[in-house]
Amino acid sequence: MEVDREGLLELARKAKENAYAPYSGYKVGAALLDGKGGVWLGCNVENAAYGCTICAERTALLKAVSEGVRDFTAIAIVGGNGTGPAEPCGQCRQTLVEFSPDMEVVLEDGRGRPIYHKLDEMLPWHFGPMRLKED
Ligand code: THU
Repeated sequence: MEVDREGLLELARKAKENAYAPYSGYKVGAALLDGKGGVWLGCNVENAAYGCTICAERTALLKAVSEGVRDFTAIAIVGGNGTGPAEPCGQCRQTLVEFSPDMEVVLEDGRGRPIYHKLDEMLPWHFGPMRLKED
Protein backbone atom coordinates (compact mmCIF):
# COMPACT_ATOMS: atom_id res chain seq x y z
CA MET A 1 0.00 0.00 0.00
CA GLU A 2 1.35 3.39 -0.97
CA VAL A 3 2.15 5.76 1.86
CA ASP A 4 -0.23 8.75 1.94
CA ARG A 5 0.90 12.38 2.16
CA GLU A 6 0.56 12.54 5.96
CA GLY A 7 2.55 9.32 6.19
CA LEU A 8 5.23 10.80 3.95
CA LEU A 9 5.47 13.86 6.23
CA GLU A 10 5.80 11.57 9.23
CA LEU A 11 8.68 9.73 7.52
CA ALA A 12 10.36 13.08 6.78
CA ARG A 13 10.10 13.95 10.49
CA LYS A 14 11.77 10.62 11.27
CA ALA A 15 14.53 11.29 8.70
CA LYS A 16 15.18 14.67 10.34
CA GLU A 17 16.29 12.90 13.51
CA ASN A 18 19.49 11.85 11.70
CA ALA A 19 20.31 15.36 10.47
CA TYR A 20 23.90 16.43 11.09
CA ALA A 21 23.63 20.18 11.49
CA PRO A 22 26.09 21.30 14.19
CA TYR A 23 26.83 24.62 12.44
CA SER A 24 23.44 26.00 11.47
CA GLY A 25 21.42 24.08 14.05
CA TYR A 26 18.75 23.82 11.35
CA LYS A 27 17.81 20.16 10.94
CA VAL A 28 15.99 18.99 7.82
CA GLY A 29 14.43 15.67 6.84
CA ALA A 30 13.06 14.56 3.47
CA ALA A 31 11.03 11.56 2.33
CA LEU A 32 10.95 10.99 -1.43
CA LEU A 33 8.26 8.75 -2.91
CA ASP A 34 9.10 6.90 -6.13
CA GLY A 35 6.76 5.69 -8.88
CA LYS A 36 6.62 2.19 -7.46
CA GLY A 37 5.74 3.30 -3.92
CA GLY A 38 9.28 3.09 -2.53
CA VAL A 39 10.38 5.76 -0.06
CA TRP A 40 13.87 7.25 0.13
CA LEU A 41 14.83 9.17 3.24
CA GLY A 42 17.42 11.91 3.53
CA CYS A 43 18.67 14.50 6.00
CA ASN A 44 21.02 17.45 5.74
CA VAL A 45 24.67 16.64 6.30
CA GLU A 46 26.79 19.68 7.15
CA ASN A 47 30.56 19.98 7.05
CA ALA A 48 33.23 22.09 8.76
CA ALA A 49 34.01 23.31 5.24
CA TYR A 50 30.51 24.82 5.04
CA GLY A 51 30.21 24.65 1.25
CA CYS A 52 30.38 20.85 1.36
CA THR A 53 26.98 20.70 3.07
CA ILE A 54 24.38 18.50 1.37
CA CYS A 55 20.70 19.27 1.81
CA ALA A 56 18.17 16.66 2.94
CA GLU A 57 16.33 16.58 -0.41
CA ARG A 58 19.50 15.91 -2.38
CA THR A 59 20.62 13.25 0.07
CA ALA A 60 17.32 11.40 -0.55
CA LEU A 61 17.44 11.94 -4.31
CA LEU A 62 21.03 10.79 -4.70
CA LYS A 63 20.32 7.66 -2.67
CA ALA A 64 17.48 6.78 -5.06
CA VAL A 65 19.19 7.67 -8.34
CA SER A 66 22.35 5.84 -7.36
CA GLU A 67 20.21 2.74 -6.86
CA GLY A 68 18.68 3.07 -10.35
CA VAL A 69 15.41 4.84 -9.42
CA ARG A 70 14.58 7.93 -11.49
CA ASP A 71 10.90 8.62 -11.33
CA PHE A 72 9.23 10.27 -8.38
CA THR A 73 5.72 11.31 -7.45
CA ALA A 74 6.20 13.31 -4.23
CA ILE A 75 8.65 14.61 -1.68
CA ALA A 76 7.88 15.65 1.89
CA ILE A 77 10.26 18.06 3.59
CA VAL A 78 10.35 19.19 7.22
CA GLY A 79 12.89 21.46 8.89
CA GLY A 80 13.54 23.74 11.82
CA ASN A 81 11.59 23.85 15.05
CA GLY A 82 8.31 25.63 14.57
CA THR A 83 10.00 28.15 12.29
CA GLY A 84 7.53 27.61 9.43
CA PRO A 85 7.76 25.62 6.19
CA ALA A 86 11.16 24.31 5.07
CA GLU A 87 10.99 25.34 1.42
CA PRO A 88 13.51 23.51 -0.79
CA CYS A 89 16.45 25.70 -1.82
CA GLY A 90 17.06 26.56 -5.46
CA GLN A 91 19.78 23.97 -5.88
CA CYS A 92 17.49 21.21 -4.58
CA ARG A 93 14.59 22.34 -6.80
CA GLN A 94 16.85 22.19 -9.85
CA THR A 95 18.25 18.79 -8.86
CA LEU A 96 14.76 17.33 -8.36
CA VAL A 97 13.23 18.89 -11.49
CA GLU A 98 15.74 17.01 -13.64
CA PHE A 99 13.85 13.78 -12.94
CA SER A 100 10.19 14.55 -12.16
CA PRO A 101 9.03 18.14 -12.78
CA ASP A 102 5.43 17.29 -11.91
CA MET A 103 6.16 15.71 -8.53
CA GLU A 104 4.26 17.03 -5.55
CA VAL A 105 6.13 18.87 -2.80
CA VAL A 106 4.61 18.44 0.65
CA LEU A 107 5.71 20.92 3.32
CA GLU A 108 4.28 21.63 6.75
CA ASP A 109 3.15 24.89 8.22
CA GLY A 110 4.11 26.11 11.70
CA ARG A 111 1.44 23.83 13.21
CA GLY A 112 2.44 20.68 11.32
CA ARG A 113 -0.40 20.90 8.79
CA PRO A 114 0.47 19.89 5.21
CA ILE A 115 1.02 22.41 2.42
CA TYR A 116 1.01 21.11 -1.17
CA HIS A 117 2.77 22.46 -4.26
CA LYS A 118 3.81 21.10 -7.64
CA LEU A 119 7.56 21.22 -8.17
CA ASP A 120 7.32 22.88 -11.59
CA GLU A 121 5.24 25.68 -10.04
CA MET A 122 8.08 26.23 -7.58
CA LEU A 123 10.63 26.46 -10.40
CA PRO A 124 8.91 27.94 -13.45
CA TRP A 125 10.85 28.29 -16.70
CA HIS A 126 13.42 25.79 -15.51
CA PHE A 127 16.33 24.55 -17.57
CA GLY A 128 16.01 20.81 -18.12
CA PRO A 129 17.40 17.83 -20.01
CA MET A 130 15.27 18.59 -23.10
CA ARG A 131 17.45 21.64 -23.81
CA LEU A 132 20.48 19.41 -24.31
CA LYS A 133 18.79 17.32 -27.00
CA GLU A 134 18.68 18.10 -30.72
CA ASP A 135 15.16 18.56 -32.23
N1 THU B 1 18.85 22.81 3.97
C1 THU B 1 18.30 21.65 3.50
O1 THU B 1 18.61 20.54 3.97
N2 THU B 1 17.41 21.74 2.49
C2 THU B 1 17.05 22.91 1.88
O2 THU B 1 16.40 22.89 0.85
C3 THU B 1 17.44 24.18 2.48
C4 THU B 1 18.54 24.11 3.48
C5 THU B 1 19.86 22.71 5.03
C6 THU B 1 21.24 23.08 4.61
C7 THU B 1 21.87 23.50 5.91
O3 THU B 1 22.40 22.34 6.55
C8 THU B 1 20.73 24.02 6.73
O4 THU B 1 19.54 23.59 6.09
C9 THU B 1 20.67 25.54 6.86
O5 THU B 1 20.76 26.14 5.63
